[in-house]
Amino acid sequence: MNKKFSVPRGTADILPDDIASWQFIEATARNVLTVYGYKQIITPLFEETELFARSMGQTSDVVQKQMLTLQSQRQEGESAGLALRPEGTAAVVRSYIENSFDRKETLSKLFYIGPMFRGERPQKGRLRQFHQIGVEAIGPESASPYLDAEVIRLSVELLTQAGLQPADFKLKINTLGSNDDKTNFAKFLREHLQPARSGLCEDCQDRFERNVFRVLDCKNKSCQALVAKLDLNHAYLSADSRKYFADVCLALDSLGIKYEKSLTLVRGLDYYTHTVFEISSSALGSQDALGAGGRYNNLVSQLGGPAVDAIGFALGVERILLALVDHPKPASRPLKVFIVTLDEASLRRGFQILHILRRHHIAGDMSYRLSSMKSQMRQADKSGAEFVMIIGEEEYKKGAVTLKQMSSGKQQELKAAESERDCRALIELLCQETGSQT
Ligand code: HAM
Repeated sequence: MNKKFSVPRGTADILPDDIASWQFIEATARNVLTVYGYKQIITPLFEETELFARSMGQTSDVVQKQMLTLQSQRQEGESAGLALRPEGTAAVVRSYIENSFDRKETLSKLFYIGPMFRGERPQKGRLRQFHQIGVEAIGPESASPYLDAEVIRLSVELLTQAGLQPADFKLKINTLGSNDDKTNFAKFLREHLQPARSGLCEDCQDRFERNVFRVLDCKNKSCQALVAKLDLNHAYLSADSRKYFADVCLALDSLGIKYEKSLTLVRGLDYYTHTVFEISSSALGSQDALGAGGRYNNLVSQLGGPAVDAIGFALGVERILLALVDHPKPASRPLKVFIVTLDEASLRRGFQILHILRRHHIAGDMSYRLSSMKSQMRQADKSGAEFVMIIGEEEYKKGAVTLKQMSSGKQQELKAAESERDCRALIELLCQETGSQT
């Protein structure tokens, strides 16, 4: 027997029934992003593996465990291996530097929409190929608490415009401070966790050495109990960092954004400095982050670019859709007309009329093979078309069609045959209904 193939684990087909929801989220996002002054950037689906290791951090879970690398035929002169992109930030920064954006503008506001790849153990809301709507604001003028507040507000607005209610999600924010502040914070954590180190889960034993911040967001109960006992505060921050964070909070308050300050919010990627944030939904189960982001003031220079600051975030499209499951679905655009023909001659004519209608942006379809009237009407019904256009022997002889409105059952005969001129009345009537131009 021939083998039947299945979609690879951790990936999913987006089937026609779900497309209206996808398109709605994408179109809404593009709209909101344009209103906020962001421009789209499209980068390749794969990059040099080293780009991700150097930006997200050698010690991050993504780089250590989840990179999907390509067994590519390395071309001469190409030193590094390639990996499917696990996120968008590194690639956007690579492009920012490569294309000298800093010489063209003082603040580059960029967005991307597309698939990302992480070799994770799949579970609800955790896929190996998933889609992000992401934003990066990079440039010498990006270090302003107002921009932090605007970026956070943008992430919230994208979710609400996609159909979520403010009560459906929670926004948490924190600050990690500058690189020096982060070093102090890591030292504080190691000192205070050291006595209880043996009580940490296996993963956190490892994290203690390589990325101690991650102990703070471990989901293991015993680690959480140890973290709860830590006297966390912002003592590790410099006066400047503390002031910056206070100003971000004030700017958020001025925009009426509801948030919770969370001292345990640290994020798993190395590049973050200062403001970090995460938006979660209780509807999602254990993978509850709808989106997350933060400032990354050193990444551009670390990757060989100018010393400019930056902030961004990414939302997970699949997780937004999961959170929207109980909300009404956007309707897909229905067909305007379905053509039913009853003999060879009218099939030929119907085929031509269909193409004339499509030239006028009237969405139409037909049965391409002759079958009984009953079976074609069933097809018309299933297609959801607003009108059925019937051409039988009688209509054919008269150079006419019978147009039936499915909802009311009202019928009328209209002149229509093989030329545009012959179809004038039909086009006008259907365009009136569509609101499009004849
Ligand atoms: P991240 O927290 O790794 O951040 O991912 C952002 C969002 O992508 C998550 O909150 C989640 O909604 C979605 N996501 C991540 N992994 C998966 C997965 N395996 N399956 C389904 N959805 C997933 C970043 O990627 C950063 N680049 C965000 C950023 C942009 N920071 C600054 N600029």
